[in-house]
Amino acid sequence: MGRNIFFEEIVDSTQKIAQNLAADGTPEGTIVVADMQSNGRGRMSRKWYSPSGTGIWMSMVIRPNIPVIDTPQLTLLTAVAVTQAIEEITPLHPNIKWPNDILLNNKKIVGILTELQAEADQVHAVIIGIGINVNQRTEDFPEELQSIATSLHRETGNTIERAKLIQAILLKFEQLYTLYISKGFLPIKLLWESYSISLKNELIARTLTGTIQGKAIGIDDNGVLLLEDNDKKIHRIYSADIEL
Ligand code: BTN
Repeated sequence: MGRNIFFEEIVDSTQKIAQNLAADGTPEGTIVVADMQSNGRGRMSRKWYSPSGTGIWMSMVIRPNIPVIDTPQLTLLTAVAVTQAIEEITPLHPNIKWPNDILLNNKKIVGILTELQAEADQVHAVIIGIGINVNQRTEDFPEELQSIATSLHRETGNTIERAKLIQAILLKFEQLYTLYISKGFLPIKLLWESYSISLKNELIARTLTGTIQGKAIGIDDNGVLLLEDNDKKIHRIYSADIEL
């Protein structure tokens, strides 16, 4: 990973640049990193707050030979890689909230956005965007985020060297991705479960088609969340906002 790395001061979105590079045939492992995004985007068409000098805003292009239905696995793999990298360079122990949030003290520290370029059922490229709140002070967050978001600085009191964290993420991602390609999703699933705060808990899933309340009983082999409602009916959740 990162043999083909683009660093930009200001972009609208690293995700958009990586999408264009992927469509033009850029090799697997291409990384786009920016100091600031003017139009950072999150899941469900939300804005992603990406000021200068404080966060990690990056997108990676990978080209796994997998069917479209397996792509949620890569979001979970990325969440494990980022969690392990944070554990390596800080004393913190983050948790993962399905599918793509990394939390510290119940506040969001990392968001992951996975997008696809595919034809029929075959993936051409997966573009994985990672946003990490690194050195923001409380007052650097807009007021509406102060109680729901945090940063590595806020949690440790230390200034973290962003380049060092990026390097650790790329290394962890490469290790886990190599494991995934050779051994499949199972070892990644086990690691993910060990960091998850979603499993075995009652939660509310807001999907595009409605709201389901139930107990998270696991993730399946595709990385999809399995939710058991009060009538013991099991729902497969592909994409949702989760309230714990
Ligand atoms: C989410 O939690 O909703 C996902 C947020 C993903 C944000 C990252 S920052 C780098 C990349 N570029 C973007 O515009 N978005 C992703």
